Amino acid sequence: MNSTATSITFAPISLPKSGVAVVLAGDGPKLFPTAAKLDQAGARFLQRAAKVAKFKGKKRTALDLLCPAQVKLDRLCVVGTGKIADYAGNDWASLGGVIRSRLTGREGGEATVVIEGPGRPDTVSSEEVAEIALGLTLRGYKFSKYKSAKSDEDKSNNGNDSKSELKKIVVQCADPAAARRAYLSRKAIADGVLLARDLVNEPANILGPKEFAAAAKALDKLGVKVEVLDEKALTKLGMRALLAVGQGSARPSLVAVMRWTGAASKDSKPVAIVGKGVCFDTGGISLKPAQGMEDMKGDMAGAACVVGLMHALAARKAKVNAVGVIGLVENMPSGTAQRPGDVVKAMSGTTIEVLNTDAEGRMVLADILWYTQQRFKPRWVVNLATLTGAVLVALGKEHAGMFSNDDKLCDQLTAAGKTTGETVWRLPLGPKYDEMIDSKVADIKNTGGRYAGSTTAAQFLQRFIKKGTPWVHLDIAGTGMAANKSDVSESWASGYGVRLLDRLIGDHYEG
Ligand code: BES
Ligand code: MN
Ligand code: ZN
Repeated sequence: MNSTATSITFAPISLPKSGVAVVLAGDGPKLFPTAAKLDQAGARFLQRAAKVAKFKGKKRTALDLLCPAQVKLDRLCVVGTGKIADYAGNDWASLGGVIRSRLTGREGGEATVVIEGPGRPDTVSSEEVAEIALGLTLRGYKFSKYKSAKSDEDKSNNGNDSKSELKKIVVQCADPAAARRAYLSRKAIADGVLLARDLVNEPANILGPKEFAAAAKALDKLGVKVEVLDEKALTKLGMRALLAVGQGSARPSLVAVMRWTGAASKDSKPVAIVGKGVCFDTGGISLKPAQGMEDMKGDMAGAACVVGLMHALAARKAKVNAVGVIGLVENMPSGTAQRPGDVVKAMSGTTIEVLNTDAEGRMVLADILWYTQQRFKPRWVVNLATLTGAVLVALGKEHAGMFSNDDKLCDQLTAAGKTTGETVWRLPLGPKYDEMIDSKVADIKNTGGRYAGSTTAAQFLQRFIKKGTPWVHLDIAGTGMAANKSDVSESWASGYGVRLLDRLIGDHYEG
């Protein structure tokens, strides 16, 4: 889908004779380890240029040299790494992103990146080189498919000028074959992240439930079994809460079920990932204000993450059985829309009083969470949803809100968050919060009032979690869409969650 993927190849170290090359410079006394590849005069020239520019090799700084006389390159870019000795977690991928930010493609659509650590080339392991390559790929993403190509005279660097698009990056390192192998699984993950970003960035006139389901269906090429349940099937299953959300839309609701069977035994219990896929959230009859409503095209970021993750797992042939279930609806106001005050009976039998039609995500999740547990008896369930504005108030855009009945799963996710940079922060659940969603006329109501809005939404979901199912709800309203820019993402849609859950599964649930 995405049009901006740059191909990455690996090669042995030898400074190229033309074009653009990036070399690294460490923080501290070993300022130019990579300058070993230049001749002595070249190295002295670098030292001098660094002094003039007060370049000290700190991370996110660079020394850009155009047509340096000592080499045949058009451009030599020295990128600071900071203290490599302190690198952990996401730091290598983030370095890759920093490097990518210095490459425009203007020097001919191809660039060389020389990866050598302080002192000796082999101080950067092949795994670390592969992480750098992951960062190069993630940072290179741009959603530019709706930008018309500019004329030759008007080539600004906004990425839609195909002539200055970077097409290929050659990563030079000590052991290219090993780095190439190590990159294979990262490439699968990167493609999953970019797929999720594409889905979230796509406007809602183009991507409704049907089109989203088709994107899920396309995973069958990778060996994922995909079923798409239509309204008839959903009615038969009794998913009245999900259907109530979609009943105001001209576009029918759908549920997609994706299954990847990669474990040694095809019968071992799957892990389950469930996503909110509200393709557009107007709020329904409880209509949202106009200001910022356009962002609600991203209210399917949870479902996009599930599709991206299933892509990653299948593409890297993960040794796990995993099911992904997404509820695809559009929340619209119309003559057929649900009303505030309506009571619907969810698939589980729980009755819901709809106080606010804008609290729709939890109604969608109620039915697919129940369905997932009934049908698959999963080892655990993690759901992702752009569920509440309140989580932005609590945590901003730095962490996803995490709610759970299982400490172990929380610890594992917290750790996976630190290693991928997709961080989570646990927020409380409890019986007193649960009381806040008791309804006067039904079993529960779909809003809990002004206070603790993210927690009462999570309490609502927990009403549909069976005793004994380890469960985590990730509220990604702040991290999945309208996201902060980072070293590895310049995109409005971050693809949040794909790397996090891939890492959770890779670290604890494979083999
Ligand atoms: N999709 C929104 C939550 C949201 C808000 C996501 C901002 C991303 C950015 C959700 O469906 C919603 O409208 N939630 C309401 C719940 C309220 C009516 C109880 C909210 O957060 O205001
Ligand atoms: Mn809403
Ligand atoms: Zn919503």
